[in-house]
This record gives sequence, structure tokens and C-alpha cells, in this order.
Amino acid sequence: MHENDVSADIGRILAPKETLEETTRRLAAQISQDFAGKEVLLIGILKGAFIFLADLARHLTIPHTVDFMSLSSYGATATTSGEVRIIMDLRTFIRGKHAIIVEDIIDTGHTLLYLQQLLGARQPATLRTCVLLSKPDRRKVTVPIDYLGLEIPDDWVVGYGLDYAEKYRTLPYIAVLKPSVYRRE
Ligand code: IMP
Ligand code: MG
Repeated sequence: MHENDVSADIGRILAPKETLEETTRRLAAQISQDFAGKEVLLIGILKGAFIFLADLARHLTIPHTVDFMSLSSYGATATTSGEVRIIMDLRTFIRGKHAIIVEDIIDTGHTLLYLQQLLGARQPATLRTCVLLSKPDRRKVTVPIDYLGLEIPDDWVVGYGLDYAEKYRTLPYIAVLKPSVYRRE
């Protein structure tokens, strides 16, 4: 077996490449339409959103710039504390800009709620949120999502930027990780 072969860890494919392509196109078209004649700033949340943001940005038909933030993650466990910390802030000042948070997935909602409050206080002209995936069954706090890709069941998913313990990020599809991978004793 090739050392990069992860097929044994991967379960059901929730979103093949074609679905992801179609979804990012749809979201980019919505954003391009809503902000026609304006320029937007895409704020990618590292690391999970880097591939989604790259595809989304290239489908936009309006002027845009890109910046990134990094927040504390769950580490190598599949549970959340609800505590969020900034690891790396934006380089850009967002005051007066049309800012769009670009995130890979919303689970409990703690991360996006924190981000919306933090960035909202910096007085952007508008602040929108674009998320590729949502696990509605897991929500703990209510968070407005302006652009949503796909709703998925409550399973740990990997690929297209999403990881488990830093693995599987560059798979071209989104798939469920076999529970045996993270429930290893
Ligand atoms: P929340 O604060 O609980 O909404 O968690 C959101 C963050 O948890 C995301 O930005 C991801 O980094 C991570 N996350 C949640 N579920 C998954 C998953 O199934 N796979 C990979 N990362 C996930
Ligand atoms: Mg994330």
C-alpha cells in the first residue's frame, strides 16, 4: 500500500468533486450578484477553509481581495470546549469594507458566533458569512449564515480542506471518516 493511501480510513462520500464544484459555483454566483458593482474582502478561516476559499474566489465575477485568520481548533479530538482563541489575526483593516467570512464547516456554532461578534465590532460596511458545510443537529448557538453550501449529518468529515489530526485535507471530495480512526484506544 502507498503510504499516502487513506482509503481504508474513509467511509461514505458525502460530496464528490462534482458536487463541490457545483456548490462553490452556486455560492460564488450568489455573492457576485449580491455585491454587484462592489468589492468584497474574503476572510478565510485557516486551515480548514483554504481549499474552499481558493475555489470560491476563482468563481467570483466581482473584484475581491483575500485575507486569513487562524483560530484555536479542537486539536486532535473530535469534541468541542466552546472556547475560541485567535492564533493569527487579519493583516487587513476591515472598517468600511464588505467583509465575508469564509469557513469550512459550522458545527456547534461557537467559532462563527465569536468571529461575527469580533469582526462586527471592527465596523465593516457589511459582514456576511459563507460556510461550505453545516451539521444542523449539532448546533448549540444560533448563528446567521448568509451563504450555505450543504447540510450534512452528524459525522466527522474530512477532505477538501477538512482534517482529522492534520490528515486527509487534500482529498478531492468530502467523506465521512470511519469512527474506528478516532475511537482507537
Ligand atoms: P464549531 O465552533 O463547533 O461550529 O466548530 C467549527 C470548527 O470545528 C470548524 O471550523 C472545523 O475546524 C471544526 N470541525 C467541526 N466538525 C468538523 C468535521 O466534521 N471535520 C473537520 N473539522 C470539523
Ligand atoms: Mg475551521
